[in-house]
Amino acid sequence: RRITRIHHLAQMKADGERWSMLTAYDYSSARIFDEAGIPVLLVGDSAANVVYGYDTTVPVTTDEMIPLVRGVVRGAPHALVVADLTFGSYEGGPAMALASATRFLKEAGAHAVKLEGGERVADQIATLTAAGIPVMAHIGFTPQSVNGLGGFRVQGRGDAAEQLVADAIAVAEAGAFAVVMEMVPADLAGQITRKLTIPTVGIGAGNETDAQVLVWQDMAGMTHGKTAKFVKRFGDVGSELRRAAEQYADEVRRGTFPGPEHSY
Ligand code: KIV
Ligand code: NA
Repeated sequence: RRITRIHHLAQMKADGERWSMLTAYDYSSARIFDEAGIPVLLVGDSAANVVYGYDTTVPVTTDEMIPLVRGVVRGAPHALVVADLTFGSYEGGPAMALASATRFLKEAGAHAVKLEGGERVADQIATLTAAGIPVMAHIGFTPQSVNGLGGFRVQGRGDAAEQLVADAIAVAEAGAFAVVMEMVPADLAGQITRKLTIPTVGIGAGNETDAQVLVWQDMAGMTHGKTAKFVKRFGDVGSELRRAAEQYADEVRRGTFPGPEHSY
C-alpha cells in the first residue's frame, strides 16, 4: 500500500480519480481506516462532539486536539493526516495561525492542517503554505461559525453563490492543497470543482466533488440521535458494540466468562 501525500491528491484530480476522507480521533480506529485504504484521515474538531461531548465545535482547544492527533498518526502509517485548527486559534492573523499549526506538526506529527473560511483567511493560508505547512481549506457551512451563521443551514444559495465561488478561488490562490465544501448545493459544488485545479472534498455537497468526507461515527452508525441529510450509514457499529458489551456483562453475571480457555 502506498503512502499518500499532497502531490498524490493533485495527481488524482488530474487523473479524474475520486478519493475518500474519514475523520479519526484515536490509534485504534485510525489503524482500521488506514488498513481499509482511506488515503486521508482528518482529526476533525468534530472531536468536540464525538470525543468530548460538546454541542458544537466552538469549545474544543488545541490542547485537547493534540493528543488525538498523536494517536491517529501512530495508527495510520500510509494516510495523509490532517488536523483541524480550532476556533479562536487562527482568526487573529497569520502569526497566530502559524503558531497553532506548527504545534500540530511538531508536537503531534500531523502532515497538514485544516482551517475554516474563504477570503477572510487567505492571508493565514498563504503564510502557512510559505512556511511549508500544507493547508486544507473549508468553506460553505463552517461549524465554528454556527453562531454567526444562525444555525446548521445550507450555504451558497441564491446571491451567496457568488461569495462561495470567490472564497473557493481565494483559498486556491492562497495555496491551499484542497478545499472542503460543506452543505452547499450540488450544482454549485460541481461548478467550483470544475473551476479549481485543487481537489474539492464534499460533505453535503453532492456527487460532483473530487472527494468526499464523513465523520466516522456518522458513517458507521455510532452517532446518537438524528443525523444530517448528507450522512449515509455504511454500518451499524454502535449496535454491535452495545451487543458485545451486553453479552460480556451477561456472561460475567452468569459465571460463564472467563472459561477454562481464558484461564491460566
Ligand atoms: O471536524 C470535522 O469533522 C470536519 C469535517 C466533517 C469536514 O471538519
Ligand atoms: Na472541522
